[in-house]
Amino acid sequence: MALPSRLARSSVRRAAFQHARWSSSAAKPLSLKERLAELIPAEIENVKAIRAAHGKKSFGPVLVDQLYGGMRGLPALIWDGSVLDAEEGIRFRGKSIPEIQAALPKAPGGSEPLPEGLFWLLVTGEVPTQEQVAELSRDWAARAAIPEFVEEIIDRCPPTLHPMSQFSLAVTALNHDSAFAKAYQSGISKKEYWGPTFEDAMDLIAKLPNIAGRIYRNVFGQGKLPAIDPAKDYSHNLATLLGFGENPAFVELLRLYITIHSDHEGGNVSAHTGKLVGSALSDPFLSYAAALNGLAGPLHGLANQEVLVWLRKMQTAIGEDASDEAVKEYIWSTLKSGQVVPGYGHAVLRKTDPRYTAQREFALKHLPDDKMFKLVGQIYNLVPDILLEAGKAKNPWPNVDAHSGVLLTHYGLDQMQYYTVLFGVSRAFGVAAQLIWDRALGAPLERPKSYSSAAIQKMFKDKP
Ligand SMILES: CC(C)(COP(=O)(O)OP(=O)(O)OC[C@H]1O[C@@H](n2cnc3c(N)ncnc32)[C@H](O)[C@@H]1OP(=O)(O)O)[C@@H](O)C(=O)NCCC(=O)NCCS
Repeated sequence: MALPSRLARSSVRRAAFQHARWSSSAAKPLSLKERLAELIPAEIENVKAIRAAHGKKSFGPVLVDQLYGGMRGLPALIWDGSVLDAEEGIRFRGKSIPEIQAALPKAPGGSEPLPEGLFWLLVTGEVPTQEQVAELSRDWAARAAIPEFVEEIIDRCPPTLHPMSQFSLAVTALNHDSAFAKAYQSGISKKEYWGPTFEDAMDLIAKLPNIAGRIYRNVFGQGKLPAIDPAKDYSHNLATLLGFGENPAFVELLRLYITIHSDHEGGNVSAHTGKLVGSALSDPFLSYAAALNGLAGPLHGLANQEVLVWLRKMQTAIGEDASDEAVKEYIWSTLKSGQVVPGYGHAVLRKTDPRYTAQREFALKHLPDDKMFKLVGQIYNLVPDILLEAGKAKNPWPNVDAHSGVLLTHYGLDQMQYYTVLFGVSRAFGVAAQLIWDRALGAPLERPKSYSSAAIQKMFKDKP
C-alpha cells in the first residue's frame, strides 16, 4: 500500500473505520485476511490515482556509475512495508523501532513486540489488537506442520551442508503444496491472485520454525524436535524447537530479533530477490527460497555469522580483555589483508543502525557484564575512526549484524553457522507481506533494461 496522499488516505481510513477492528455483525475481531480484503479495493484505486497523476514524472537522471555501481540509489521499486532513511534507519509502515516497541502488542509479562503484530502492521498499515495477534499465533501454530517428505529432505542433508542451503532446499520443496501454484494451474483470475498468495504466505511463515528447528537439531545434535504448542506465540514456539523455550529472556530476544530483522525496504538483496522472482508468478515458497539464497551471502545475511567468526578469531589472537591498542591493531590487520570488517558499513545507512541500538539496549538490560558484549562495545568505539581513516567505506557505523550473534551466543546458541537461518525466518515476514500486495495490486513481471559496455561507449561517443 503506497497511500501517498494524506487526503486519500484519511478518507479511505474513515470509510473503513467502522470495520477496522471488528466485524459489524458479530463481536468477533476481523481476521488478517478479512481486514486485507477490505483494504485492497481502495488501494487499487489509490495506485491508479498515483499513476494517473504522477505516472509520467521523472525521478531524476540515471548515472552510468549507477549501472556499474550495483544500482545504488536508483529509484526502481515499490515496497510498502518499510522505508529506509540513510540517517534515521528503518521505519515499518511509518513507525521507527522504538515506536513499534511501544505500540505493538506484547506477550503476557513480556516487553518486546510480538512479531505477529509486526506482520499485521506490515500487511495492513495498522496496529492490531491483542486478540488479533493471539489469533495469528494460533493460526500459525495450526499451519506449522511440514510434509513428511520435506522432513526427509532435511534429514538426508549431510550435517556439513550449510544450514542456509538446507533451509533453502526445504522452503523450495514446500512449493509442492502451494495454493497459488494449484490455483494458477486451474485458471484462477488475476483479480483473485492475492487470496492463494495470502494462504501460501501464511503457510510459509508458519512452517519456518519446524524447518529451522529440524535443521538446528540435525546439524548440532540437540535431541528430538518437540511439537509446536498452539497456546504459545510464534517466537516462543521457535525458541522451544531450538531448545531454549524455558528461558524467558531468550524468548524475548527472539521476539525482538524477528521483529527488527523482518524488513529493510525493498532494495536489499533478499527482499528484492523475493519480489523479482514473485513477479514471474513463482509462488511464495519458490520466491522466498530464492530470497534465502541471496541472504546466504557474506555481504548480506551471512555477515552475522562472519562477525562472530571474526570476534572469536580476534579473541584467539589477542586474548580476552585485550587493550584498545591491541584491538585496533587487529582491526587494521583485517583491513590490510583485504577483508571487510564484518558488521560495519551499509549500502544505504549513514548512521548507526537503529537495529544495532535496539540490540545494544537489550544487552544493557539483560547481559550488561557479558564479555563478548563488552568487546562489541569496545569495537564500536574503535572501528568507525579506523574505517574513516582507511577512507573507503561510505558508512563507518555498525549495522544489525554487528550485534545479533553476541546476544544469541550469550544464551548458548553459539553455533554461528546457524545465525543466518534466524535472519531468514525473520525476513520472511517482510517479503511475504510484499508478495501479497504485489499480487493484490497486479504488479507486473520485472524486466529492467540492461546495456553492454560497448553500447554505453557508443551512446556517449563524441559527447563530452
Ligand atoms: C554492507 C556493504 C556490503 C555495503 O557495501 P557498499 O554499499 O559497496 O559500501 P561502500 O560504498 O561504503 O563501499 C566502498 C568501499 O568501502 C569498502 N567497505 C565498506 N564497508 C567496509 C567494511 N565494513 N570494512 C572494510 N571495507 C569496507 C567496500 O568494500 C568498498 O571497497 P572497494 O571500493 O575496494 O570495493 C559493506 O559495507 C560491507 O562489506 N560491510 C561488511 C559486511 C556486512 O556487515 N554486511 C552486512 C550488511 S547489513
